[in-house]
Amino acid sequence: MSAEKLKLGFIGAGRAGTGLATSFARAGRDVVAVASRSIASAQALVKRVRGARACAPQEVADRADLVFLTVPDDAIERVASGIRWRAGSACVHCSGAADLDALKKAAADGALTGGFHPLHMFGEPGQSPDALAGCAIALAGPDALLKKLERLARSLGAKPLRLPEGGRALYHAAANFSGAFVIALVQETIALWKKLGIAEADALAALLPLLRGTVDNVERLGAAGKRARFARALSHPEPAHHTACARQGNAEAGDGEGDRGVITVPRGFTSREIRHLTFHAQYIRDRNPNRATNSLDCAGHFRQA
Ligand SMILES: NC(=O)c1ccc[n+]([C@@H]2O[C@H](COP(=O)([O-])OP(=O)(O)OC[C@H]3O[C@@H](n4cnc5c(N)ncnc54)[C@H](OP(=O)(O)O)[C@@H]3O)[C@@H](O)[C@H]2O)c1
Repeated sequence: MSAEKLKLGFIGAGRAGTGLATSFARAGRDVVAVASRSIASAQALVKRVRGARACAPQEVADRADLVFLTVPDDAIERVASGIRWRAGSACVHCSGAADLDALKKAAADGALTGGFHPLHMFGEPGQSPDALAGCAIALAGPDALLKKLERLARSLGAKPLRLPEGGRALYHAAANFSGAFVIALVQETIALWKKLGIAEADALAALLPLLRGTVDNVERLGAAGKRARFARALSHPEPAHHTACARQGNAEAGDGEGDRGVITVPRGFTSREIRHLTFHAQYIRDRNPNRATNSLDCAGHFRQA
């Protein structure tokens, strides 16, 4: 069946489920069924998607040709395992980091399984329309499914990105340096400026134009200009900001924590790059006990393959 005619179903009516289902509906795709942990969430989403029905997870799998599991990462395997999948149907999860192995029950029942991870930060359900045009969507799965997923991603105006086998954890942890970690870094600036008596609202007002200017520069000039400065900072054996952070009692680079959160990077990364990834991941994680994102957990420590 062509991607255009696939009946789409969603299990999980939170931020990603709502953003994706409403985007597909706006793009003219057929969203037929939505389930969630609470029927109220599913009903709230179907109100925004004409023709969709709020039902139980099993009914979503029975009615849809392709099911998007948009539940939290740690619920994917449990939810997928509780369903009898139709042979020939398909099921994808939307996590950037979780393995496809979490869908092994669906694969054992004869469904095609894959990954569909929008590189986008969705807003609270229904609060603002999520524009996925121009965003990358990282895809994984067997070829027959990948072709359909690519067409679906393109129908949203997004750019499909194929991930190599075994590369998901590194892809996601590294992507967070340009996404979720930026929020943690802004929080960090605000906290440090507070020591200088600068109020949070004033700090944010000062930082937003800086952030926008930085993004504009990267868009205009590419990452090379910034990268050169970054590389210069790295070339110092003990950069001043690392020392200042260490003095504040934070994590130091490479302070091994056994194997907790270890990510193996492919060959070709220099030891300095690995040290830098590790330092920043640990620094951000240790400074954010409330965790802006659970991905901070998996970005604890990097080592060479
Ligand atoms: N948020 C993002 O920006 C973003 C971006 C890319 C990918 N993702 C991925 O998308 C997935 C969902 O993340 P999210 O941020 O959308 O999470 P979320 O806002 O917390 O929403 C998760 C939804 O899943 C539902 N749910 C939880 N446990 C369930 C269960 N056992 N059975 C059925 N439904 C269940 C919840 O239901 P109720 O509302 O009914 O309680 C909630 O609506 C994750 O894999 C995440 O990595 C998220």
